[in-house]
Amino acid sequence: MHHILIIEYDNVIRDSLRRLLERNNYKVSEARSVDDATSHFDLDALDIIICNLRLPGKPGTHLIRMTPTPVLVMTKYASQRSVIDSLKVCAVDYLSLPLDHTQILGSIERVLSENLKEKKRACLNLRESEKPVAGMTGKCPAMAEMFRRIRKIAQTNSPVLIRGESGTGKELVARALHEGSTRKDGNLISVNCAAIAQNLIESELFGHEKDAFPGATSTRTGLVEMANNGTLFLDEIGELPLDAQARLVRVLEEQEIRKVGSVQPLMVDIRLIAANQGDLNQLVNEGRFREDLFYRINVMPLQIPPLRERGVDIIELADQKLRLCCERLGVRQKILSADAIQVITTYAWPGNVRELENAIERAVIMTEGDEIPMEMLGLDVELVKIDSMTPEPGPQSGAENEHSSASSGIDDIAPENLSLKDYFQHFVLEHQDNLNETELAKKLGISRKCLWERRQRFNIPRKKKG
Ligand SMILES: Nc1ncnc2c1ncn2[C@@H]1O[C@H](COP(=O)(O)OP(=O)(O)OP(=O)(O)O)[C@@H](O)[C@H]1O
Ligand SMILES: [Mg+2]
Repeated sequence: MHHILIIEYDNVIRDSLRRLLERNNYKVSEARSVDDATSHFDLDALDIIICNLRLPGKPGTHLIRMTPTPVLVMTKYASQRSVIDSLKVCAVDYLSLPLDHTQILGSIERVLSENLKEKKRACLNLRESEKPVAGMTGKCPAMAEMFRRIRKIAQTNSPVLIRGESGTGKELVARALHEGSTRKDGNLISVNCAAIAQNLIESELFGHEKDAFPGATSTRTGLVEMANNGTLFLDEIGELPLDAQARLVRVLEEQEIRKVGSVQPLMVDIRLIAANQGDLNQLVNEGRFREDLFYRINVMPLQIPPLRERGVDIIELADQKLRLCCERLGVRQKILSADAIQVITTYAWPGNVRELENAIERAVIMTEGDEIPMEMLGLDVELVKIDSMTPEPGPQSGAENEHSSASSGIDDIAPENLSLKDYFQHFVLEHQDNLNETELAKKLGISRKCLWERRQRFNIPRKKKG
């Protein structure tokens, strides 16, 4: 008899699924969260896992790569399906909510008849050989491709140009390149060109002789020389003044530096890694960046994807940062609420991983209980994608009948052009005459407390009765 584990917080959905599977001669076990499942079951020994994407604590997708057992994820919204689609290579599938009995039984039959467990095992083994690089988390296709390039490029001596928005991990990539190279026993010298005063930058980088300029009271070794036999990482290289750019071209061409005020060249053996947030091409066109330098550093371009394009990595990163933050602050481990997970996966993250780290740290400090509510993340709701934010009956909505959400009326509103606030206001004003607060909250897929808080925040007070 095939053994299926259901991971679902909602008792009504879980019971009805169990009854359906038992009627069809499957052995069924149940868990209420990912942690509950991993602490009570040997996941590899199961035949199939069926879980909700939204669970208290870790999301269901967390399991997908933990075990060769195929995972069927229950979800309602297309945006979340696309996240799961990106993982399909590991033999997962999704089940639409509200549950359709024929679809469930069909998916299970397919998983069993196509022996997807073995295929998934082979796929996971393959991935194991593609371990991410030093301290970087990421499994989405764009990050996997970047890790592959990092491993390849690290072993060469070619200059690298890293591009990526603020907080995407440019410094981490530079470190990974250094540590993956034969220069790893040498120094990695990191310089943020935007942080050094323009008139000091040449002497900082290339050093100076005593009395080379007023105030130069002794000879100084420059940062480039300190990187000898190692790696020089120039962050925000676009900020480098043109004179310093000319000296840098010389380093790359001749492997030699000349200190400010010196005629004597000095041989250096460095590998240059440069990074820039903006488009260097544009600076070249504007005459603010030397074209010859651009071509010399643009040998191996590496583009780091913004966080909002990393699919399910976002939630894994949030989980990891949450765990590390609780450890660092010495507080009890907290978990993300379903609301918080929803917002984290749909927020635009203009400040990328650094912004995520900051939001998590703030939430850990502000949250008194064990579960982090969405509000504590302090994110700008205007930057939450509304189409993914349409409410889904989640753990907080209590025991929800699997068919009731189909008739909620929520789908009647075309939400594309609405902000979360507009959407909320529209929905509440339209339905508050016919529904009580509990019913309203349930249809919005949020708790009553959350409904009350949002009424306060968006200034939509409850109508007085009579
Ligand atoms: N893939 C990742 N996995 C884990 N942590 C990451 C990842 N990418 C970035 N971080 C963390 O995010 C923070 C920002 O990373 P980093 O300083 O490398 O970004 P950056 O692109 O150099 O930022 P800036 O543009 O502001 O200089 C760091 O604390 C880093 O540890
Ligand atoms: Mg940086």
